[in-house]
Amino acid sequence: MPKDKVIEVRHLSKSYTSRERPSGIKGLFKWGKKKKKAIFNDFNLSLDGQQVIGLIGPNGAGKTTLLKLLSGIIYPDQGKIKVLGYRPQKRQKSFLRQLGFLMGNKSHLWWNLPPIDSFQMLKVIYQIEENAFNDTLTKFSRFLEVDHLLFKPVRQLSLGERMRCQLIAAFLHLPKLVFLDEPTLALDIISQEKIRKFICYYQKEYQATIIVTSHYLKDILTTAQEVVILNNGQLVFQGNKDKLVSLTGHQREIKVEFFSPTKRGKLQEYQPYLKKLNDSQAMFLVPKEKIVDLTKFLTTHFSITDLTIKEMEIETVIKEFFKREP
Ligand SMILES: Nc1ncnc2c1ncn2[C@@H]1O[C@H](COP(=O)(O)OP(=O)(O)OP(=O)(O)O)[C@@H](O)[C@H]1O
Ligand SMILES: [Mg+2]
Repeated sequence: MPKDKVIEVRHLSKSYTSRERPSGIKGLFKWGKKKKKAIFNDFNLSLDGQQVIGLIGPNGAGKTTLLKLLSGIIYPDQGKIKVLGYRPQKRQKSFLRQLGFLMGNKSHLWWNLPPIDSFQMLKVIYQIEENAFNDTLTKFSRFLEVDHLLFKPVRQLSLGERMRCQLIAAFLHLPKLVFLDEPTLALDIISQEKIRKFICYYQKEYQATIIVTSHYLKDILTTAQEVVILNNGQLVFQGNKDKLVSLTGHQREIKVEFFSPTKRGKLQEYQPYLKKLNDSQAMFLVPKEKIVDLTKFLTTHFSITDLTIKEMEIETVIKEFFKREP
């Protein structure tokens, strides 16, 4: 008999029903009509292998909805979903024991209690054996450098410390499959770095499958081997991360603010790299080796009030990707 794929989605359809309030002051008093919005329509996806998979796409693409469907928190309207050989909507104990889910924008720990109390609760829920619990907690809390914070009330932890503790909560029962929905959302660089390292460490050490969504390109480039791009509930790319990197990874965004409005013609020399020009602000997308030339050109020929160089934003990557793909 053929082995089940880790994730298999066939002909999935899912809509949300919500009420649209009239705009303006009327909206305060009227509920408005119910409206159905299709998020997925005949959607198919097959994921396999013990690896980190980066799930990316613009706001509203359906990433969180997909993870909720895959974990059985919400149900499909039509179609079939199989995860680790189970139907997620049945929420069987043996399925849930193998699954970890972290939502970056939700708190999974008791606010007024120290993280250790939430971990103890998870120990009971997942029936984790005492020695295994102690070993895992020590290992993970040292790795994420929160071992000195386990007895401090969650409300007193910084955002980065709290998120690292939440990560432990999602991994404590050593799940085979983990969904991390924006685990680095709004975090400082140090915490982001620690979380990325932990994701890579856990995947290798425990041979797990981890799906990560993020709006930070660096999260995906440093952790994932495979990338899935969703747009408007449709799968627009699935494949090796290298393909995405070869198209985008060696470029940087240069944003510049001129002292006064500037005409496109004056930037003729760098026209192919100019992606946006809006009065006195411009955005260029350039290969790394052109950064020095372009900044020299800008600083010599223009009066500049601000200039930033950074990695491409995920939204830019997706736009560029669409342009290049036939
Ligand atoms: N409970 C809900 N009721 C009605 N509409 C919803 C609900 N949850 C999500 N939506 C809508 O479904 C669409 C997909 O939302 P989803 O949260 O899956 O997007 P996403 O790809 O995770 O976006 P983001 O990058 O902003 O997190 C959006 O248009 C959103 O407004
Ligand atoms: Mg989301």
